[in-house]
Amino acid sequence: MINQKNVRLGTVRSSIRELFEYGKRRKAEIGEENVFDFSIGNPSVPTPPAVNAALKEIIDTYDPVLLHGYTSAQGDFETRKTLADYTNARFGTSLNADCFYLTCGAAASLTIVLNALLNEGDEVITFAPFFPEYRVFTEQAGGKFIPVKSEDDTFHIDFERLESAITAHTKGVIINSPNNPSGVVYTEQEIKQLTNLLKKYSEKYSNPIYLISDEPYRELVYDKSTKVPCVFNYYAHSIVCYSYSKSLSLPGERIGYVGVNCEMPNFSEVYAAVCGAGRSLGFVCAPNLFQQLIKKVYNVTSDVSVYKRNRDRMYSALTEYGFKVIKPEGAFYMFVKSPEKSAVDFCERAKKYEILIVPGDDFGGEGYARISYCVAPDMLERALPAFEKLAASYR
Ligand SMILES: Cc1ncc(COP(=O)(O)O)c(C=O)c1O
Repeated sequence: MINQKNVRLGTVRSSIRELFEYGKRRKAEIGEENVFDFSIGNPSVPTPPAVNAALKEIIDTYDPVLLHGYTSAQGDFETRKTLADYTNARFGTSLNADCFYLTCGAAASLTIVLNALLNEGDEVITFAPFFPEYRVFTEQAGGKFIPVKSEDDTFHIDFERLESAITAHTKGVIINSPNNPSGVVYTEQEIKQLTNLLKKYSEKYSNPIYLISDEPYRELVYDKSTKVPCVFNYYAHSIVCYSYSKSLSLPGERIGYVGVNCEMPNFSEVYAAVCGAGRSLGFVCAPNLFQQLIKKVYNVTSDVSVYKRNRDRMYSALTEYGFKVIKPEGAFYMFVKSPEKSAVDFCERAKKYEILIVPGDDFGGEGYARISYCVAPDMLERALPAFEKLAASYR
């Protein structure tokens, strides 16, 4: 018999993918313009011009044999050095090229890090609501997935709940800020409180608890006052899983990195385990064309002002219609409270108005639905009367 866990994973689609597929069928039936699809987090702004210019230059000027060849497994040295220099200049850290390992995006970064750290039965905590693949990645790596509910209504970290979830088997805590699906950004105070708690329990159990910071949305924050603290500055046993999928609108190209804090006392062992996990998972190396690209556009971000305008428009309209919404500070998702107990039923009712939004249940956010507002502004505008009717249907 073949591996039934994988058969199940390959057969049962996530609720996001299910709805996305439904959306494609529905658009074919009634016309693209009549379906309001907020199901998926595919960036809707084009890659910045600097990306296309750099890609053209690389293709025109680089030796094609080298360009399309393998790089070392951890990635091109110059690219890793660029990342170290940039991170140091931006956050005052003291990293070097050998703290970085280039990957095929955050999903690969996470699977590599979890496989690097976990022994069978180790526990990994994350805060609900969470990106559903965390469960898949943790369990595949042999770990036990422990979701901890965030504070009711704010979705910031609930430290009491966290403290009661930490055990002698806790190996890691995954954070994701800006957050998918809530849009919440953790404050510096929150990161300090979290890392102090992890220090306390690492000492208590004489075993480090690793802080894994999943950061595909780091660059997507909308107000100058919103800062995303760099975990390296607060906690030695910290690892960053970064991706350019959203910040450069390149999700199909698969490029990101793992950054391991070199201040970790067991840094060499952890970095070796990252390389080993990349090897045993068969990643070989990240795509070289995009490694070379990152060396040139390491400090560029897509024009996220479109997302900010969408956030503002959507937030003010939905609150005006009577929906209870957490105002997102980052990423491109909004978490709206279901007016009825079941968010699954709420999202089914939304479909009657041709609105496609995802129930929070798969994210561990029962009673809420996720709206991905990385959409064309004119579609968002056309969808608002449908949201208004949806709200009215509950009065
Ligand atoms: C929170 C979170 N982590 C990781 C990923 C995976 O991103 P990537 O495309 O870089 O693999 C996503 C993608 O949507 C995400 O939302």
